[in-house]
Amino acid sequence: MAVAIAVTRERREGETRCAATPETVKKLIALGATVSVEAGTGLGSSIPDGDYAEAGASVKSDLSAALAGADVLLKVRGPTASEISALKPGAVVVSLLDAWRDKATVEALRGAQATAFAMEFVPRITRAQVMDVLSSQANLAGYRAVIEAAYAYGKGFPMMMTAAGTVAAAKTFVMGAGVAGLQAIATARRLGAVVTATDVRPAAKEQVESLGAKFVAVEDEEFKAAETAGGYAKAMSAEYQAKQADLTAAHIVKQDIVITTALIPGRPAPKLVTAAHVASMKPGSVIVDLAVEAGGNVEGSKPNEVVTTANGVKIVGWSNMPGRIAADASALYARNLVAFLGLMIKDGALSVDLEEEILKAAVVTHGGAVVHEGVRG
Ligand code: NAI
Repeated sequence: MAVAIAVTRERREGETRCAATPETVKKLIALGATVSVEAGTGLGSSIPDGDYAEAGASVKSDLSAALAGADVLLKVRGPTASEISALKPGAVVVSLLDAWRDKATVEALRGAQATAFAMEFVPRITRAQVMDVLSSQANLAGYRAVIEAAYAYGKGFPMMMTAAGTVAAAKTFVMGAGVAGLQAIATARRLGAVVTATDVRPAAKEQVESLGAKFVAVEDEEFKAAETAGGYAKAMSAEYQAKQADLTAAHIVKQDIVITTALIPGRPAPKLVTAAHVASMKPGSVIVDLAVEAGGNVEGSKPNEVVTTANGVKIVGWSNMPGRIAADASALYARNLVAFLGLMIKDGALSVDLEEEILKAAVVTHGGAVVHEGVRG
């Protein structure tokens, strides 16, 4: 029997993305699957139900009809209780699970005997790049952060010479130059800003400079050793953080736009911008905190709010930035999922080998147990 794949509407507040598009429905069918899509799944990404049907999916009016008999459930955000209770025992769930933090969802998936994969745990190895949802979504988030900043900023980004005089270019500082930060740098440069950027990983310096931005960082001995074997940042010492805060204080006072993207996997985001830094900035300056969901890089940022401080600085805290560019974010995410499913659909049948390197790294619950060491903790 063909593998039955279900895609349901995102139920978490503010989630506009979806886990399949008409393009990926066709690809899943080509892998040997049948696809059921709950009505309304694509609305936030401007995909009408009819487009899924035309691609070969069977559109179901509600959740239980979509999930009936499903072998695999595809989601953007972790399934909610109503979805989990409609799963058949042993069903495969593929989703962003936020598994470090959202223990309740992990526990519910365990209780339902689901084999749940957290897309955020797909390892950053070359073979898995095509499944790397962190990169596909962070890239769009970095782009959109700059667009949000430009929207909130009462001046222009590029230098403009007009008959009425010159408009100065916006000075933009990007903190954290990973996937999102590099795209933010490129986008701000395209808009004409003068861009500087910082990171704690030495590898970031060359990447920042290759995009035409200036690298600003505390480059001491600790900095030279700040990258893990996996390419991620380490949590820095209190001494380094103090030096970094001094450097930030001297630099941030001259900036019009600050975009922060710094994350450390499995830990709260580092606080990089203090209330004193914010208070030193000019009225009208804009800060976008992309790390707001992980606790924030900026003191005073609030999830899903634009805070205006007493000195007139706007701090933008949209927690689902990829969801603000939903059609592209869904298209890329859905393609990532097709590549991931390719690891477990063989000759039209579901064959999940939990010893396979990528599946092993991403599986969180299986057979009624939490099998991911980091999550089990
Ligand atoms: P991330 O989202 O975990 O963090 C964002 C950035 O914040 C990173 O560059 C990190 O170094 C920086 N950061 C952390 N603490 C900081 C602090 N205290 N001050 C300033 N910056 C701080 O990282 P992301 O974007 O997921 O990428 C991490 C690395 O992995 C990058 O080098 C990226 O190019 C690499 N990568 C490799 C891939 C592959 O080989 N398949 C795929 C994707 C990323």
